[in-house]
Amino acid sequence: MSSTRKRLFIKTYGCQMNVYDSERMKDVLTPLGYESSETPEGSDLVILNTCHIREKAAEKVYSELGRLRPLKEARLESGDQMTIAVAGCVAQAEGAEIMKRAPVVDLVVGPQTYHKLPELIARAARAKGEALDTEFVVEDKFDKLPAARQVDGYSAFVTVQEGCDKFCTFCVVPYTRGAEWSRPVDQLVAEIRGLAAMGVREVTLLGQNVNAYHGEPPAGREADGPWGLAQLLRHLALIGGIYRLRYTTSHPRDMGDDLIAAHRDEEKLMPYLHLPIQVGSDKILKAMNRQHTYAEYVDLIGRVRDARPDIAISGDFIVGFPGERDEDFEATMKCVREIGYATAYSFKYSRRPGTPGAAMVNQVDEGVKGERLQALKLLLDDQQTAFNQAQTGQTLPVLFEKAGRLEGQLHGRSPYLQSVHVQGPAELIGQIGHVAIESVTRNALTGSLVLPATVDS
Ligand code: 5AD
Ligand code: SF4
Repeated sequence: MSSTRKRLFIKTYGCQMNVYDSERMKDVLTPLGYESSETPEGSDLVILNTCHIREKAAEKVYSELGRLRPLKEARLESGDQMTIAVAGCVAQAEGAEIMKRAPVVDLVVGPQTYHKLPELIARAARAKGEALDTEFVVEDKFDKLPAARQVDGYSAFVTVQEGCDKFCTFCVVPYTRGAEWSRPVDQLVAEIRGLAAMGVREVTLLGQNVNAYHGEPPAGREADGPWGLAQLLRHLALIGGIYRLRYTTSHPRDMGDDLIAAHRDEEKLMPYLHLPIQVGSDKILKAMNRQHTYAEYVDLIGRVRDARPDIAISGDFIVGFPGERDEDFEATMKCVREIGYATAYSFKYSRRPGTPGAAMVNQVDEGVKGERLQALKLLLDDQQTAFNQAQTGQTLPVLFEKAGRLEGQLHGRSPYLQSVHVQGPAELIGQIGHVAIESVTRNALTGSLVLPATVDS
């Protein structure tokens, strides 16, 4: 272990699981003397934690590497080093290709081997070419990462499940993150207790297919067999200091009755559900291998809303999947109108090498994709505004996370994950206060504090 101070810059692309992984990489490197830096300039180690989900995301990495090259050269000229590492899903998918295409890269590390970073950095310092590790052993990673986490803030992500066995025909995740795997319940309890002791009040459980969670039960409950997400959530709700629980991303096929019931009666489970359908047409759902129909999704959302009428539904949509005709796209628009989304992400279909969708012959013209995306985004934006407007006049419990941009302002989140701004005392940061919502925009709610009272677990 070295005590010399070194500067570390991590740039994170893509999903929240990468945000979590970046934090864990910091945890691994802090004992080696690395301190976080806000910019790559002057850093001893730069890590790009990459995303491979769409072509644009993957290409961003190479542009960033181009920008880093002169910085590395400048440091070398002044007798310093800059080690450049590519981590994450591009690393997993493209491996050694990255070093060939961008010789500026010193090491490549896949999402399952971050605990080996210290060793890889040492190897990279000795010789190039050896420093590649994209093995696929998930268990190792969590066993070997430091138990303690460093967090700043009151809301934290915790990865509970990785990988995916669904094989949607557009998606690279089953190839980059591997087979579905869940962390043991006790390991998660220990991590979240530690977070609570550090002041964390809200935890978002992460997984590519989080509601497929099936983790080893806690000690003494072995006879139960694997625990599902609902059992895990109910168990985590018992941890003192944690006020709010969330989870993302779910697949409609894995939305069991027990999880729906947890939304009805588990107070700490927030009324927000990210449940992507991707498209509204049965023909395209089938081509995507989503394994359910539109009618099944509508029925499912109905049951979720019966259990928790105010729940905010969020989703992901893809336009221009191979074979999508105008009437198929219309089915997506009809789905959005029928369901009513609080918020949603929408994307143009991006052909990912190695996925079945990429080999399909009936690819959709880019211009058509663009038009469809624009129409869909307009509709989703209107729905988001309408969802926010419906909160006007309501009083919402808000978890204050940090100071707002304006003097004396606090920033927090409503149960529905909306940003809320309010004037209030800084002591409320990390607490839940009640806010009477007075005005809204598409992206945020504003109001005044009605109950400075705080909530204890
Ligand atoms: N093209 C476009 N969007 C994609 N997504 C996943 N793969 C692709 C792709 N090839 C979207 C899906 C998924 C979200 C995380 O990213 O909507 O739910
Ligand atoms: Fe990708 Fe489908 Fe798995 Fe989600 S469920 S990660 S979209 S393969």
